[in-house]
Amino acid sequence: MKLCVALDMESKDDNLALVKELKSIEDLWLKVGLRSYIRDGHKLIEDIKSINSNAKIFLDLKLYDIPNTMANSASEIAKLPIDMFNIHASSGSKAINYVKEAIDKESNNPLLFTVSALTSFDDDSFKKIYGDSIKNKIKYFSKISYENGADGMVCSVWESKMIKENTNNSFLTLTPGIKIDRDRKDDQKRVADINNAKNELSDFIVVGRPIYQAENPIEVVKKIMKKIKD
Ligand code: C5P
Repeated sequence: MKLCVALDMESKDDNLALVKELKSIEDLWLKVGLRSYIRDGHKLIEDIKSINSNAKIFLDLKLYDIPNTMANSASEIAKLPIDMFNIHASSGSKAINYVKEAIDKESNNPLLFTVSALTSFDDDSFKKIYGDSIKNKIKYFSKISYENGADGMVCSVWESKMIKENTNNSFLTLTPGIKIDRDRKDDQKRVADINNAKNELSDFIVVGRPIYQAENPIEVVKKIMKKIKD
Protein backbone atom coordinates (compact mmCIF):
# COMPACT_ATOMS: atom_id res chain seq x y z
CA MET A 1 0.00 0.00 0.00
CA LYS A 2 1.28 3.46 -0.91
CA LEU A 3 0.64 6.87 0.60
CA CYS A 4 -0.53 9.71 -1.62
CA VAL A 5 -0.40 13.14 0.05
CA ALA A 6 -3.00 15.64 -1.18
CA LEU A 7 -1.47 19.04 -1.96
CA ASP A 8 -4.68 20.98 -1.37
CA MET A 9 -3.20 23.95 0.48
CA GLU A 10 -4.00 27.63 0.35
CA SER A 11 -1.09 28.72 -1.78
CA LYS A 12 1.52 27.36 -4.15
CA ASP A 13 4.25 28.31 -1.67
CA ASP A 14 2.57 26.27 1.06
CA ASN A 15 2.27 23.24 -1.22
CA LEU A 16 5.89 23.48 -2.37
CA ALA A 17 7.09 23.93 1.23
CA LEU A 18 5.33 20.65 2.08
CA VAL A 19 6.90 18.94 -0.96
CA LYS A 20 10.32 20.09 0.31
CA GLU A 21 9.60 18.94 3.82
CA LEU A 22 8.61 15.47 2.59
CA LYS A 23 11.50 15.10 0.17
CA SER A 24 13.29 12.49 2.26
CA ILE A 25 10.27 10.16 2.31
CA GLU A 26 10.70 7.25 -0.09
CA ASP A 27 8.04 5.90 -2.37
CA LEU A 28 5.85 8.97 -1.99
CA TRP A 29 2.93 9.96 -4.20
CA LEU A 30 1.69 13.55 -4.30
CA LYS A 31 -1.79 14.52 -5.40
CA VAL A 32 -2.47 17.72 -7.29
CA GLY A 33 -6.19 18.41 -7.23
CA LEU A 34 -8.56 20.99 -8.63
CA ARG A 35 -7.80 23.82 -6.24
CA SER A 36 -4.06 23.76 -6.78
CA TYR A 37 -4.19 22.99 -10.49
CA ILE A 38 -6.69 25.74 -11.26
CA ARG A 39 -4.65 28.26 -9.31
CA ASP A 40 -1.13 27.24 -10.29
CA GLY A 41 -1.48 25.27 -13.54
CA HIS A 42 1.01 22.77 -14.88
CA LYS A 43 3.93 24.91 -13.75
CA LEU A 44 3.15 23.53 -10.29
CA ILE A 45 3.82 20.01 -11.55
CA GLU A 46 7.16 21.09 -13.00
CA ASP A 47 8.05 22.83 -9.73
CA ILE A 48 7.19 19.72 -7.70
CA LYS A 49 9.35 17.62 -10.00
CA SER A 50 12.25 20.04 -9.71
CA ILE A 51 12.11 19.76 -5.90
CA ASN A 52 11.58 16.00 -5.81
CA SER A 53 12.04 14.21 -9.12
CA ASN A 54 11.35 10.84 -7.46
CA ALA A 55 7.89 11.73 -6.25
CA LYS A 56 5.08 10.31 -8.30
CA ILE A 57 2.25 12.65 -9.20
CA PHE A 58 -1.46 11.93 -9.28
CA LEU A 59 -3.37 14.64 -11.15
CA ASP A 60 -6.84 14.53 -9.57
CA LEU A 61 -9.06 16.53 -11.93
CA LYS A 62 -11.94 14.01 -12.12
CA LEU A 63 -12.84 14.65 -15.75
CA TYR A 64 -16.51 14.45 -16.70
CA ASP A 65 -17.63 15.53 -20.17
CA ILE A 66 -18.59 14.07 -23.54
CA PRO A 67 -16.24 11.25 -24.67
CA ASN A 68 -14.54 13.30 -27.40
CA THR A 69 -13.72 16.20 -25.06
CA MET A 70 -12.50 13.81 -22.38
CA ALA A 71 -10.25 11.94 -24.83
CA ASN A 72 -8.71 15.17 -26.11
CA SER A 73 -8.17 16.43 -22.57
CA ALA A 74 -6.63 13.10 -21.57
CA SER A 75 -4.14 13.38 -24.47
CA GLU A 76 -3.05 16.75 -23.08
CA ILE A 77 -2.84 15.34 -19.56
CA ALA A 78 -0.64 12.48 -20.77
CA LYS A 79 1.85 15.03 -22.10
CA LEU A 80 2.46 16.27 -18.54
CA PRO A 81 5.07 14.60 -16.30
CA ILE A 82 2.47 12.84 -14.19
CA ASP A 83 1.97 9.20 -13.22
CA MET A 84 -1.76 8.92 -12.61
CA PHE A 85 -4.98 10.81 -13.38
CA ASN A 86 -8.70 10.20 -13.08
CA ILE A 87 -12.09 10.57 -14.70
CA HIS A 88 -15.60 9.90 -13.39
CA ALA A 89 -16.78 6.33 -14.01
CA SER A 90 -20.29 7.73 -14.40
CA SER A 91 -19.15 9.42 -17.62
CA GLY A 92 -19.77 5.96 -19.13
CA SER A 93 -18.10 3.09 -21.03
CA LYS A 94 -17.54 5.04 -24.21
CA ALA A 95 -15.80 7.90 -22.40
CA ILE A 96 -13.53 5.52 -20.46
CA ASN A 97 -12.69 3.68 -23.67
CA TYR A 98 -11.96 6.88 -25.62
CA VAL A 99 -9.74 8.18 -22.82
CA LYS A 100 -7.80 4.92 -22.64
CA GLU A 101 -7.26 4.91 -26.41
CA ALA A 102 -6.15 8.54 -26.31
CA ILE A 103 -3.51 8.04 -23.62
CA ASP A 104 -2.22 4.86 -25.26
CA LYS A 105 -1.20 7.00 -28.24
CA GLU A 106 1.02 9.23 -26.03
CA SER A 107 4.56 8.37 -24.96
CA ASN A 108 3.84 8.98 -21.28
CA ASN A 109 1.33 6.42 -20.14
CA PRO A 110 -0.10 7.50 -16.76
CA LEU A 111 -2.31 5.16 -14.77
CA LEU A 112 -5.99 5.80 -15.46
CA PHE A 113 -8.33 5.71 -12.46
CA THR A 114 -12.08 6.17 -12.48
CA VAL A 115 -13.98 7.79 -9.61
CA SER A 116 -16.67 5.47 -8.27
CA ALA A 117 -18.63 7.50 -5.70
CA LEU A 118 -17.15 10.50 -3.94
CA THR A 119 -16.28 9.64 -0.36
CA SER A 120 -18.32 12.66 0.79
CA PHE A 121 -21.52 10.78 -0.15
CA ASP A 122 -23.34 8.50 2.24
CA ASP A 123 -25.83 6.01 0.81
CA ASP A 124 -28.84 8.36 1.14
CA SER A 125 -27.27 11.36 -0.53
CA PHE A 126 -25.84 9.09 -3.25
CA LYS A 127 -29.22 7.49 -3.98
CA LYS A 128 -30.84 10.90 -4.47
CA ILE A 129 -28.53 11.57 -7.40
CA TYR A 130 -27.71 8.15 -8.85
CA GLY A 131 -31.01 6.37 -8.05
CA ASP A 132 -29.40 3.28 -6.54
CA SER A 133 -27.21 2.22 -3.63
CA ILE A 134 -23.48 2.92 -3.69
CA LYS A 135 -22.83 -0.82 -3.66
CA ASN A 136 -24.99 -1.60 -6.70
CA LYS A 137 -23.71 1.32 -8.73
CA ILE A 138 -20.09 0.57 -7.91
CA LYS A 139 -20.52 -2.98 -9.17
CA TYR A 140 -21.55 -1.55 -12.51
CA PHE A 141 -18.95 1.25 -12.50
CA SER A 142 -16.13 -1.17 -11.70
CA LYS A 143 -17.20 -3.53 -14.47
CA ILE A 144 -17.24 -0.84 -17.17
CA SER A 145 -14.01 0.69 -15.88
CA TYR A 146 -12.16 -2.62 -15.92
CA GLU A 147 -13.56 -3.72 -19.28
CA ASN A 148 -12.63 -0.44 -20.92
CA GLY A 149 -9.02 -0.45 -19.80
CA ALA A 150 -8.86 1.65 -16.62
CA ASP A 151 -6.09 0.63 -14.21
CA GLY A 152 -8.10 1.15 -11.06
CA MET A 153 -10.79 3.01 -9.18
CA VAL A 154 -11.05 5.77 -6.60
CA CYS A 155 -13.41 4.53 -3.89
CA SER A 156 -13.84 4.37 -0.15
CA VAL A 157 -11.94 1.71 1.76
CA TRP A 158 -15.24 -0.10 2.25
CA GLU A 159 -15.65 -0.78 -1.46
CA SER A 160 -12.05 -1.76 -2.26
CA LYS A 161 -12.40 -5.54 -1.81
CA MET A 162 -15.74 -5.67 -3.57
CA ILE A 163 -14.28 -3.86 -6.60
CA LYS A 164 -11.43 -6.37 -6.83
CA GLU A 165 -13.81 -9.30 -6.44
CA ASN A 166 -15.98 -7.84 -9.18
CA THR A 167 -13.05 -7.29 -11.56
CA ASN A 168 -9.59 -8.66 -10.90
CA ASN A 169 -7.11 -8.58 -7.99
CA SER A 170 -4.72 -6.61 -10.17
CA PHE A 171 -7.32 -3.85 -10.63
CA LEU A 172 -6.05 -1.11 -8.31
CA THR A 173 -7.96 0.83 -5.67
CA LEU A 174 -7.14 4.28 -4.35
CA THR A 175 -8.96 5.34 -1.21
CA PRO A 176 -9.40 8.83 0.25
CA GLY A 177 -11.43 9.43 3.41
CA ILE A 178 -8.65 8.16 5.68
CA LYS A 179 -8.98 8.98 9.36
CA ILE A 180 -5.72 9.43 11.21
CA ASP A 181 -6.97 10.84 14.45
CA ARG A 182 -10.30 9.73 15.78
CA ASP A 183 -11.80 13.14 16.30
CA ARG A 184 -11.51 14.27 12.74
CA LYS A 185 -14.62 16.17 11.68
CA ASP A 186 -14.97 17.30 8.09
CA ASP A 187 -17.02 16.58 4.97
CA GLN A 188 -15.86 12.97 4.48
CA LYS A 189 -18.57 10.38 5.20
CA ARG A 190 -17.31 6.89 4.27
CA VAL A 191 -14.15 7.08 6.37
CA ALA A 192 -11.73 4.38 7.56
CA ASP A 193 -8.35 4.09 9.23
CA ILE A 194 -5.06 2.72 7.90
CA ASN A 195 -5.58 -0.78 9.28
CA ASN A 196 -8.99 -0.92 7.63
CA ALA A 197 -7.37 0.17 4.36
CA LYS A 198 -4.78 -2.61 4.65
CA ASN A 199 -7.37 -5.25 5.45
CA GLU A 200 -9.56 -4.14 2.58
CA LEU A 201 -6.61 -4.38 0.14
CA SER A 202 -6.41 -0.72 -0.76
CA ASP A 203 -3.41 -0.08 -3.06
CA PHE A 204 -3.16 3.67 -2.37
CA ILE A 205 -4.43 5.78 0.50
CA VAL A 206 -4.95 9.51 -0.05
CA VAL A 207 -4.48 11.74 2.97
CA GLY A 208 -4.78 15.52 2.88
CA ARG A 209 -5.93 17.58 5.84
CA PRO A 210 -4.64 15.23 8.56
CA ILE A 211 -1.14 15.84 7.15
CA TYR A 212 -1.07 19.43 5.94
CA GLN A 213 -3.10 20.79 8.84
CA ALA A 214 -0.88 19.04 11.38
CA GLU A 215 1.63 21.01 13.42
CA ASN A 216 4.34 18.63 12.27
CA PRO A 217 3.37 17.12 8.88
CA ILE A 218 6.50 15.01 8.44
CA GLU A 219 5.92 13.28 11.77
CA VAL A 220 2.39 12.38 10.68
CA VAL A 221 3.72 11.08 7.35
CA LYS A 222 6.38 8.98 9.11
CA LYS A 223 3.72 7.58 11.43
CA ILE A 224 1.54 6.65 8.46
CA MET A 225 4.48 5.06 6.62
CA LYS A 226 5.31 3.00 9.69
CA LYS A 227 1.70 1.84 10.04
CA ILE A 228 1.68 0.90 6.35
CA LYS A 229 4.80 -1.25 6.82
CA ASP A 230 3.85 -2.85 10.19
O1 C5P B 1 -8.27 16.21 3.34
P1 C5P B 1 -8.66 14.82 2.96
O2 C5P B 1 -7.75 13.77 3.57
O3 C5P B 1 -10.11 14.52 3.16
O4 C5P B 1 -8.36 14.80 1.40
C1 C5P B 1 -8.87 13.84 0.54
C2 C5P B 1 -8.51 14.21 -0.86
O5 C5P B 1 -9.00 13.21 -1.72
C3 C5P B 1 -9.09 15.54 -1.36
O6 C5P B 1 -8.10 16.12 -2.19
C4 C5P B 1 -10.30 15.14 -2.16
O7 C5P B 1 -10.54 16.02 -3.25
C5 C5P B 1 -9.87 13.78 -2.69
N1 C5P B 1 -10.94 12.84 -3.07
C6 C5P B 1 -11.93 12.42 -2.19
N2 C5P B 1 -12.89 11.53 -2.61
C7 C5P B 1 -12.87 11.05 -3.84
C8 C5P B 1 -11.85 11.46 -4.73
C9 C5P B 1 -10.89 12.35 -4.29
O8 C5P B 1 -11.94 12.84 -1.04
N3 C5P B 1 -13.76 10.14 -4.23
